[in-house]
Order: sequence, then C-alpha cells, then structure tokens
Amino acid sequence: MDLINKRIVLGVTGGIACYKIAELVRRLTEQGATVDVVMTEAATHFITPVTMQALSGRPVFLDAWDPRVPNNMAHIDLTRGADVVLIAPASADFMAKLAHGEASDLLSTLCLARACPLLAAPAMNREMWANPATQRNVTQLRADGIALLGPDSGSQACGEVGDGRMLEAHQLLSEVIAFFQPKVLAGKHVLMTAGPTAEPIDPVRVLSNRSSGKTGYALARAAQEAGARVTLISGPTALPAPYGVMRVSVTTARQMHAAVMAEAASADIFIAVAAVADWYVKNASTQKIKKTRGGPPQLEFEANPDILADVAGLARGPWCVGFAAETENLAEHAEDKRRRKNLPLLVGNLAQNVMDADATELALFDDRGMHSLPAATKLDAARRLVAEIAARLPKP
Ligand code: C5P
Repeated sequence: MDLINKRIVLGVTGGIACYKIAELVRRLTEQGATVDVVMTEAATHFITPVTMQALSGRPVFLDAWDPRVPNNMAHIDLTRGADVVLIAPASADFMAKLAHGEASDLLSTLCLARACPLLAAPAMNREMWANPATQRNVTQLRADGIALLGPDSGSQACGEVGDGRMLEAHQLLSEVIAFFQPKVLAGKHVLMTAGPTAEPIDPVRVLSNRSSGKTGYALARAAQEAGARVTLISGPTALPAPYGVMRVSVTTARQMHAAVMAEAASADIFIAVAAVADWYVKNASTQKIKKTRGGPPQLEFEANPDILADVAGLARGPWCVGFAAETENLAEHAEDKRRRKNLPLLVGNLAQNVMDADATELALFDDRGMHSLPAATKLDAARRLVAEIAARLPKP
C-alpha cells in the first residue's frame, strides 16, 4: 500500500489511450489512494464515466456546471485536499490549453486553480508529438514546473510507429509512487550489482549461487524513486528491469567485473548486492561433456575478481556499500567483511531467512557498530536503506 492517505485528482482527456486508464485507476486505488476522476467531454467518447466511478468508488466530475456541487466551485474544491493532479492521457489539445493557461472547461480551470504539483502523461500520434507547436508547449509546460511522464515510443493505435505512446498503467503507477518518495539521492549516479552470476562448465551447464535478485532489484527501484540515475549490472534473473533503471545484463563474474569497472568512474555510490560466484571453471569445455565418457569431470577452479574490493580500492571511487548473506554468526562475519573490503557501510542478513522471500530483515554495520532495521518487505527495506545511505554520504 504505497499510496495510503494520498489524494489524487486524475484528469482524463480525449485519446485512445483512455483504455489504459481503467487499469490505472484500479492500481492507484489498490495502493490505497483516493482518486477523484475528472473527465473532459472528449474523454467520455473513449471510456465511460460509469467505469471510472465504479473503479474509483467516487463520483466522477465532467463539467463546470455540475448541479451536485452546491457552491459551483468544483474547480477549487477538488484540488484543495489533493496531493497531486495527474493528467492521463494528456492530449495535444489539452497540453496546448495548459501551456496557455486556458480555463475553458472544468479540468483546465482546475489545473489553473490548483495548489499542488501537476504530472501529465502525453498520448498522441507521433506527428502530433513531433509538431513544433506541441514541442513549444512541451518546453513551456516543463518551464512551468509540470512533470511530463513519457511519452513512450512504439506502435501506436493509428498503426504508425514512433514517439507519443502513453506509458502503460503499471509505469504510470511507478511514476506516481516515485513522485511521493523523498528525493534524497537527486543528482547521484548509483551503480549496483544484483542477482547471481553463472560460471560455465560447458555450453549447457553452469555453477551458480542461489539468488533471486529481489533485494537488489528492490534497491535499484528505491534508488530510482529517490531521484538517482541507476545503472544495474545484473546476473541472470527472471525479474523485469525496474522502471527507469538502466540494466546491463551479464552472465559471469568476470563480465560483471568489466561492466562495473566501465561505469565506476562516473558513479557516486556503488552497491554490491550480487551473489558473485567465488570461482570460475578454468577448464570449461567448449563442447557438452558426455556423462557416458569415463566418470565425473575433473573441474579446475580459478578465483573470480572481487568486484566490490576492486571498486572500494579505486583512488577516487564511489562510496561503497557491501552486502553479506550469512548462515550463522552474522555480526562477526559482516564486520570482518566490512573491514577486509574497506567499506563505510555493510548490510547483513541471514541467508536462510531471505532466499527468494519477499520480506527481509537487515542489519547495518558501519564505524559506529551494528544497527538492526525492522523486518519489512524487500521494497520497504530498500527504501529505508536508501534513506540510511543518503544520511551517511559525505557532505560535499
Ligand atoms: O566476499 P563475500 O562474497 O563474502 O562478500 C560479499 C559482498 O562482496 C557482496 O556485497 C558481494 O556483492 C560482493 N562481492 C563482489 N565480488 C565478488 C564477491 C563478492 O562484488 N567476487
């Protein structure tokens, strides 16, 4: 429930992307938000107010002369308690109205009269988006402090392909949730590793660690929500890349090391969450090893590079955070690891409690000792950890 106690005015304007808005209202309310839907007349041609009312569980507002509003001040009343106004889809026409400060219908009047931030998710044909008039309006809206979410690029309802697609409902939800998170990492570049690595034995067999990648991916999302630019170097996992995060997929520890080192110089913070294999198979076979051929293979191992220790050893490297999943004596092993790798912060957890689970219990180790964090979902724990990291960063 990431939007509990949040009040959102959702302005819906006319465009075929309206079909995504039913899903959006459902997702917003599932997260605990109170959603007041305001529709333009054009929007009602694409999706009905009945659908919006049923999904939001609240009356839907359509025009400025609504007899249900005794003082006729819906344009004022609706936004006064609101935390944010979200226009989705934002048509080219509505963006033009916004850019010019028009108050020609309930929604545009409400936008002008609002006392809270405004987010807009453009949705239009690619030529309409590229038109210099629309681009002038985009520049004006940004200058006015309005945050544009998207648009995306891809196939469009009209059959053309290009910029102007509205973001999907789940992406808009992520944007709204991110909007409410404190921007404690604004302007920072966060480099991370997550997931396991897989070390080939032959073309079909690998040695790997048990790691779902969930903690690392939750942390990448939390850092992105906190305003950071996030580069996530990920080993093999089935998880989708968190919205707004730049993911680089790798397989082996040596590939992960190379990908991290290529980004380390530009990173402000490095967070090593990956369960990196300690060794790779030196005599990996280029052909599948046949089990019928004379007993088990004799594997020779060679140590993998320690990615975290190498980054922590850079002369002007990023501020480094390590992870330690232990099965016993967590405090002892974690503090030992922190000193060995020369880290300002190490995050420990008991491996048997967290493997593949959605909840976690973390303990922080720094120069002042150990601090336990309360048990939480991996995403909540990640958000807390982002706040703890931000509070410890050296002041510029
Ligand atoms: O050395 P150990 O694996 O116990 O340390 C765990 C921490 O070091 C984690 O943050 C992990 O991501 C990182 N690590 C690494 N490269 C390795 C081994 C571990 O970055 N080769």
